[in-house]
Amino acid sequence: MAQGPVKLKPGDTIGILGGGQLGRMLAMAAARLGLRCQVFSPDPDSPAFDVVQAATCAEYADVEALELFANDVNVVTYEFENVPAATAMVLAARRPVLPAQKILETTQDRLVEKDFVSKLGIGTADYADVSSVATLHAAIARIGLPAVIKTRRFGYDGKGQAIVRDGDDIDQIWEDLGTKSAILEAFVPFEREISVIAARSASGQVECFDVTENEHRDHILKTSRAPAAIPDALAAQARAIAEKIASALDYVGVLAVELFVVPGNGAPTVLVNEIAPRVHNSGHWTLDGASISQFEQHIRAIAGWPLGKPVRHGEVVTMTNLIGDDILSYEQWLTVPGATVHLYGKGAPRPGRKMGHVTEVTPPRKS
Ligand SMILES: Nc1ncnc2c1ncn2[C@@H]1O[C@H](COP(=O)(O)OP(=O)(O)O)[C@@H](O)[C@H]1O
Ligand SMILES: [Mg+2]
Repeated sequence: MAQGPVKLKPGDTIGILGGGQLGRMLAMAAARLGLRCQVFSPDPDSPAFDVVQAATCAEYADVEALELFANDVNVVTYEFENVPAATAMVLAARRPVLPAQKILETTQDRLVEKDFVSKLGIGTADYADVSSVATLHAAIARIGLPAVIKTRRFGYDGKGQAIVRDGDDIDQIWEDLGTKSAILEAFVPFEREISVIAARSASGQVECFDVTENEHRDHILKTSRAPAAIPDALAAQARAIAEKIASALDYVGVLAVELFVVPGNGAPTVLVNEIAPRVHNSGHWTLDGASISQFEQHIRAIAGWPLGKPVRHGEVVTMTNLIGDDILSYEQWLTVPGATVHLYGKGAPRPGRKMGHVTEVTPPRKS
């Protein structure tokens, strides 16, 4: 379908694929701007269903449901990168899908993504394509150990990856990974992990939030802190990388770039770890810690509205994820001065499940 640039009006409807907490927070941001959302998710217990009037509960392969959904909305976006290509194709034939479908192809596959980033002249860990135990041995011979083996597709929160160390049973690791398409990455002895949340409009305007520093526990993001405690020049470099990636993808919406800070010759440098073509957990602090949240920026970008210039509210903003049983302490968090509590309305607190988060803003220092 020939599609001009998207320009929504208040009252128009955004279709969101995926019904988790990201979809929920996108819909809440859209509502504040007078925009409606319709959420498409196969899971009847989707937290995002609670905050929208219109929901489609159907499988992503259900063409008829997708067509009806497309008819109801003005533009389609998504909260997760593993949208099946066929789903995106059905929708894109009827309504603009933003970020564009071709971006999913790059970001759904770690090898394609790493090739894309490297071709832009941006540093990553050394990596190799691995498709058999023989190629894994060859990759280890070239890259060395320790290293990280990752499935090319469908990995998240550390799932689908393993560290390979000297003396490990390589054949067993390959068997346990249970795939024929993986990449091996050199283990990066990072000093810290950071991320850049960037928004890009259809007209090419890019706005980045403050670079955020992230700590993981059991491979799951536990806390974020903005701004990252890194030199200004390094933060500028990280933002420039995110901007370059967004522009090269002709991206419309919010994207996150995860980076490693590594000790360099004299000064630290950065390597790109991965790209998430969506709003990101490490940007949740922006809900309470900035004049415009990552969710609002994404909605503005896909609506064809001007992006905001986000201003951070406090000296430092921290975000703590409530994972699994952490949620049981929500009442305690409610009593913490200065804390803002977000609960996602999910059911059982399974281990590793993101149930909510808390933001704390340190007021600006008095001079
Ligand atoms: N090459 C690497 N070297 C060191 N640590 C790594 C490497 N790759 C991943 N990690 C660690 O594992 C985490 C999860 O890996 P990532 O590739 O971001 O996958 P996911 O999709 O699960 O977020 C990273 O945030 C980092 O802490
Ligand atoms: Mg990651």
